[in-house]
Amino acid sequence: MTTSFDNAAQVLTLPEAGLTYLRSNRANELRLEPGGITVEHGRISALEPTSDADIHIDATGCALLPGFVDCHTHLPFAGWRANEYEQKVTGVPYEEIARAGGGIRSSSRALNETPDDTVLAQAQQLAGEMLRSGTTTFECKSGYGLSTAGELRSLQLATELAEIVSQVTTRTGLLAHAVPDGYTTTTWMDEVEKMLPEALEHVSALDIFVESIAFGLDDLDRMGELATQNGVLLRAHVEQFTTMRSVPVALKHNARSLDHLSTIHPDDIGPLATSETAAVLLPGAEFMGAEATAPARDLIGAGAIMVLATDGNPGTSPIFSLPLIVGLGVRRYGLSTREALLAVTLNAAYVLDLHSDLGSIELDKRADLVLLDCPAEHVAYRLGRNPVAATFVGGQPAYVRPDAAWRIAEK
Ligand code: NIG
Ligand code: FE
Repeated sequence: MTTSFDNAAQVLTLPEAGLTYLRSNRANELRLEPGGITVEHGRISALEPTSDADIHIDATGCALLPGFVDCHTHLPFAGWRANEYEQKVTGVPYEEIARAGGGIRSSSRALNETPDDTVLAQAQQLAGEMLRSGTTTFECKSGYGLSTAGELRSLQLATELAEIVSQVTTRTGLLAHAVPDGYTTTTWMDEVEKMLPEALEHVSALDIFVESIAFGLDDLDRMGELATQNGVLLRAHVEQFTTMRSVPVALKHNARSLDHLSTIHPDDIGPLATSETAAVLLPGAEFMGAEATAPARDLIGAGAIMVLATDGNPGTSPIFSLPLIVGLGVRRYGLSTREALLAVTLNAAYVLDLHSDLGSIELDKRADLVLLDCPAEHVAYRLGRNPVAATFVGGQPAYVRPDAAWRIAEK
């Protein structure tokens, strides 16, 4: 089966083939030019359209982009925490909500009380929302289990979720998120080590929350060793509320990404930016929590592999739309359209180690694509509007907005 995408106003392509990532100070080399592509058997077979296709997509006036990659979500979880949001906006600090049994602990209780099929149904519904916003790949994390059984169940559910959603998904073991009752950070890390053989059946990465109210630098060091010993990626939630100086420790273990970075120490910007550790910025969490703003321009200027993600979770960022995250990121950090698009495509795929198969419009890659009904510059500019006309997964239309159905014609 051959599909031709014809006459797009803009097609986003990279300056070179076969890139693992592109440092964000080269984002201006991304091309957004008129054209089309051909897809055969779910993969991109030509960077031009063909008249000899079974299906033609009329992309007139549209931007054709790689499907968006959301490399940081906390799916699956149970329920929401709207009550806490009201507390937060009226002035109660996150740390205080957390210490009073709210925050991560309240989502943990909800998860443990909710049956599997209900948890999966909520996550599946959110995956549908994400598809309609152009996300064709997303990461799942554990972290709300807060017990060995709970964490392993969460990873099992994430594995089951992969079977019932249209997107490509990955699983990360956020095995050190909050310190469970009855443990110290060290005795909980002992538990993490014990559950690891089973967790590794599911995950491609390990994650840890390094924060004054969570885990410390020694625990990060230990998680880094566990990741290396077991051949999985290290990722970490760092420098979100408190400047902990996690960056040098994580760089020692070649972390694949460091996420949040709102309060990164100025001396840590250069080493992070020149490493192969991606800087994952989460403007949704920053905005919703009135957090400090990550120094994105300094990171980019110093050569970082900058990435944007939703951080979709019931607490700090109940946002699952990457177009909205792009809009927030562009305004908050002063990003160009190309910097923001690179940050939700190739560089995000690199964080999930999927860059050789997806994340860019490039020969032989999966035809995971998003068709916008407007120029790419409008994604950030028309903040809050969903610009997605259709989302394609493996070359197949997985979502088509009703008013865009006319664009798809069988020969
Ligand atoms: O990425 N920072 C820690 N973890 C999540 C928040 C989780 C929650 O509040 O439920 C985050 O922001
Ligand atoms: Fe997070």
